[in-house]
Amino acid sequence: LSKSLARFLGYSLETQSVSFLHKFCRRLRSGDWLDQSMILMCVWTVGGLEVSTGKVSSVEAMNGSTVLLPCTYSSCIGIENLYFNWQYNDNGTLKKLCEASIRMEGVEPKVHVTHERVEFVGSSKTNNISILLWNITFEDEGEYICFAKNPKEKNRNHSAVFTLIVVDQMKEVDNTLTIIIVSALGGVIGLVIIVMVIKAVVVHFLQKDDDKNKECLVSSSGNDNTENGLSGAKTDNKGTPKA
Ligand SMILES: *[C@@H]1O[C@H](CO)[C@@H](O)[C@H](O)[C@H]1NC(C)=O
Ligand SMILES: *[C@@H]1O[C@H](CO)[C@@H](O)[C@H](O)[C@H]1NC(C)=O
Ligand SMILES: *[C@@H]1O[C@H](CO)[C@@H](O)[C@H](O)[C@H]1NC(C)=O
Ligand SMILES: *[C@@H]1O[C@H](CO)[C@@H](O)[C@H](O)[C@H]1NC(C)=O
Ligand SMILES: *[C@@H]1O[C@H](CO)[C@@H](O)[C@H](O)[C@H]1NC(C)=O
Repeated sequence: LSKSLARFLGYSLETQSVSFLHKFCRRLRSGDWLDQSMILMCVWTVGGLEVSTGKVSSVEAMNGSTVLLPCTYSSCIGIENLYFNWQYNDNGTLKKLCEASIRMEGVEPKVHVTHERVEFVGSSKTNNISILLWNITFEDEGEYICFAKNPKEKNRNHSAVFTLIVVDQMKEVDNTLTIIIVSALGGVIGLVIIVMVIKAVVVHFLQKDDDKNKECLVSSSGNDNTENGLSGAKTDNKGTPKA
């Protein structure tokens, strides 16, 4: 009990200190007594700017469909001329898809798009810098990098990676293939069972045959006995001439 209590206290202390820091940072932002070292302290303790593609870092989509490449940012010390871009990692070389800067919080950016199928759908109201990629093809598969830097943080770079996997619209084909494989496997198993049954039946009959053979052996040994008897009789017969 004391352990869980201590854990709870530690947790609440932690969350309180974090919320205190957030409040403190907000006050720092609003006041013009900004001190670079204080900002740095904020950046180090609460993390400064953060960009994220959300809980899921990849998506599987069909060729020809349109996908959302999600990205959001958050900042403890606030943003000013936040620069961001989206890049596609084309086998090692980064290709810029779009770029913009957000002058201050809540001001919508003028996005310069350099890809014919990219559309910016983010909003500064929700710290959202997501894009849509229209009519995807198999060449679009790969890593998409959401990059941001905040001049307020001495231009530290931040980025998050989102992976796009393009699958064929003919996924049913794959299904039929698995069905074929499964039924083939089932057929093989059925065949094995049939073979085993046949084997069991054959073995059963063979055993019966063996029993018959044994019977034959027994009868033949009986014959032997009778032969012995006969021989005995013979000896008897032999004996009679002797006598
Ligand atoms: C997706 O790819 C398949 C095979 O390459 C093709 O047959 C199909 O037309 C494509 N779908 C679209 C919407 O482009
Ligand atoms: C991608 O890179 C690999 C090795 O790094 C190379 O073998 C391949 O040819 C490249 N593909 C293209 C399309 O450039
Ligand atoms: C996507 O494809 C549809 C139908 O092929 C076309 O009408 C549309 O203009 C395309 N959109 C983009 C952004 O290329
Ligand atoms: C960002 O905006 C897009 C388009 O409006 C929306 O679909 C998406 O859910 C938003 N993402 C977040 C994390 O709010
Ligand atoms: C940040 O990214 C830029 C490219 O946009 C690069 O030139 C610079 O070296 C990077 N800085 C750090 C500290 O990684």
